[in-house]
Amino acid sequence: MTNQTTLIIGANSAIAKALALQVINNNDSHLIVVTRDISFYQHEKFSHSKIMSIKDYQESSIKTVVQAIGEDEAISISQVFICHGLLHNDVITPEKRLQEFSAESFTEILTANTITPILWLKNLMPILKGKQPCKVVVFSARVGSISDNKIGGWYSYRASKAAVNMLLKSVAVEFSRTAKNIKLISFHPGTTDTPLSKPFQKNVPENKLFTSEFVAKQLLQIVEDNEVNGEASFLDWQGKTIPW
Ligand SMILES: NC(=O)c1ccc[n+]([C@@H]2O[C@H](COP(=O)([O-])OP(=O)(O)OC[C@H]3O[C@@H](n4cnc5c(N)ncnc54)[C@H](OP(=O)(O)O)[C@@H]3O)[C@@H](O)[C@H]2O)c1
Repeated sequence: MTNQTTLIIGANSAIAKALALQVINNNDSHLIVVTRDISFYQHEKFSHSKIMSIKDYQESSIKTVVQAIGEDEAISISQVFICHGLLHNDVITPEKRLQEFSAESFTEILTANTITPILWLKNLMPILKGKQPCKVVVFSARVGSISDNKIGGWYSYRASKAAVNMLLKSVAVEFSRTAKNIKLISFHPGTTDTPLSKPFQKNVPENKLFTSEFVAKQLLQIVEDNEVNGEASFLDWQGKTIPW
């Protein structure tokens, strides 16, 4: 029985992979990863980890994975990282102007960035609540801060991150009564060199473009430092509070 199981969801994210590598280097911690593409994890390094493939992020698929995790009574999850994020793909480009806004693109982004993380939280809550402190990190972004929005643009991505923040605030209010052991952290990694930020790195000063390894190290420390307090925190890579 280990008291230190880490669950990483959306584990094919570049930051998630760096987190996973750092977690397995800590001998005390057991690792479970969930992703649509498990190829990175088919390596001897992860032979003691539980690698779970998911075909999509429909709620029925999420339920099946959570059920399988819950069936193993030896597992007690102390930290969860929900890493989903969609900014662009073959058909979606972040909007510069309102005229570029599209209902289809917004729906796709909202599904990936807002609905999917909250469905995980909803389905995981029964197996996370209990006596052991459990920290849940949902990847957000500073652009999701409504009060910090001075430059506009990126309508769909911004709105999806603002929405996930609002949902987390509400969930924290409920959990302060019903799942007091769970701490929610909405996390901004800073601009990190990953496929998500690749097309937008041109104007980022070199010292402001982080590696996934750096961000993962910062985040693991932030999670350790933040106590369960019945509130959601919106934190950046330095552990500094971002205004909602
Ligand atoms: N990189 C940055 O500069 C930056 C800055 C601010 C915030 N963030 C946030 O940090 C988080 C991690 O980003 P990253 O840079 O590591 O991204 P990444 O390498 O592009 O990883 C993408 C992640 O999103 C998931 N995903 C992609 N399309 C999806 C869809 N349609 N539905 C559900 N999930 C989907 C992937 O899940 P699978 O594992 O199943 O493929 C994977 O977890 C994201 O929330 C992102 O918004 C990143």
